[in-house]
Amino acid sequence: MHFTVNPSNVRDAAVTVPGDKSISHRALMLGSVANGSTDISGFLAGEDCLATLSAMRAMGVQIEQTGPTDIVVHGRGLHGLGRPESALDLGNSGTAMRLMAGLLSGQDFDSRLVGDESLSSRPMGRVITPLLAMGADIGSEDGRPPLTVRGNRALTAIEYELPVASAQVKSAVLLAGMYADGVTSVVEPAVTRDHTERMLGAMGVEVQTSGHRISVQGGQALKSCSIRVPGDLSSAAFVILAALLSENAEIVIESVGVNPTRTGVIDILQAMGADISLENPRLLSQEPVADIRVRSSAMQGGVVDPGLVSLAIDEFPVLFVAAAAARGTTRFSGIGELRVKESDRIAAMSAGLRALGIEVDESDDGAVVYGGKFTGGDVESFGDHRIAMSLAVAAGSSSGPVVVRDTAAVETSFPGFATLMASLGLNIESNTA
Ligand code: S3P
Repeated sequence: MHFTVNPSNVRDAAVTVPGDKSISHRALMLGSVANGSTDISGFLAGEDCLATLSAMRAMGVQIEQTGPTDIVVHGRGLHGLGRPESALDLGNSGTAMRLMAGLLSGQDFDSRLVGDESLSSRPMGRVITPLLAMGADIGSEDGRPPLTVRGNRALTAIEYELPVASAQVKSAVLLAGMYADGVTSVVEPAVTRDHTERMLGAMGVEVQTSGHRISVQGGQALKSCSIRVPGDLSSAAFVILAALLSENAEIVIESVGVNPTRTGVIDILQAMGADISLENPRLLSQEPVADIRVRSSAMQGGVVDPGLVSLAIDEFPVLFVAAAAARGTTRFSGIGELRVKESDRIAAMSAGLRALGIEVDESDDGAVVYGGKFTGGDVESFGDHRIAMSLAVAAGSSSGPVVVRDTAAVETSFPGFATLMASLGLNIESNTA
């Protein structure tokens, strides 16, 4: 599949974006081991979360789809999952694989976790190491998927200092901690998204957070609840970028999650001069939500605060495009983690922007982007959803047609992306060939 994008502007509109991916994964997993039925509305029916849904079903959890984005998970309690008959295929999803490794470490059956080519090349040692320290038994090939998780292990609580800031690793250890004897603690080097902690709290589990340390006592039962999933800020970021780069556009994106552990992208764009405001702030289930108003803006490059990296970890492809469209030079540092996402995002964005006429210098854990004007061209997304969508938005403000290659993975996180962007005025076609 590929996108063909012609120069175009988005226009004034009020829109919503699909549900939050991180929260949807967690709602399925935690709902499955809760007592009682968890109603989830606004669920992201994208391929990543559907892989988690299939995996939970394969372990005996009854999950009903009651509407396009409404599901009911009939929880089986902390010890109610059953042995899956075959390997659990988690597709492209790092979140599914890493969180599931933690959850499955506490079960009384063996399981095997597999993924697609991209996921099979991603590092799993970061979850295997702490889980082994808790007494889990996980086999891998060189620290990469497939993973074999052997069950029936007595897990013991640990205190673990995360070597990298990662919400997936934190969550995996906390989920295993639910099955461990004693109090499991993780200490983060930098704050990462706290959806697991919030959802466990909403399900009646006591989770203590003090500074960068998060602790949970094993053996606590989860109570089912209703979860309303907000729009995904990581998806909204593409709409925000399109509005910023267009002429005279004003777009409101309604009911988007603005958990402070996720809003680094807004802070960084505002520091570059973007006109973005959060309106009507409220809580949806346990998560902060707002309507985001964004107006076309002339942006200025600068030095991006490395302290915001873990709060904007998935938005750097968008930020690279903003930097390319800004006046002057933008310097990114401390972003080495981008090299082990769905693709090497520093390399992928540098190549994509260069193909559109922008100068970029890359380093191991950073990049310098020299603001300029996008030309038409042919760009590769390396099968990475966020690269594909970032380059598609950049293409709208180019001087000629752009083809974005290998875009099927957009379905993992933002089903309907091209249709939504086209409805806003972006001249985009999604071609199946
Ligand atoms: C996620 C955590 C982040 C993020 C990913 C989703 C999560 O990954 O990049 O898209 O839901 O916990 P890391 O934990 O590797 O930083």
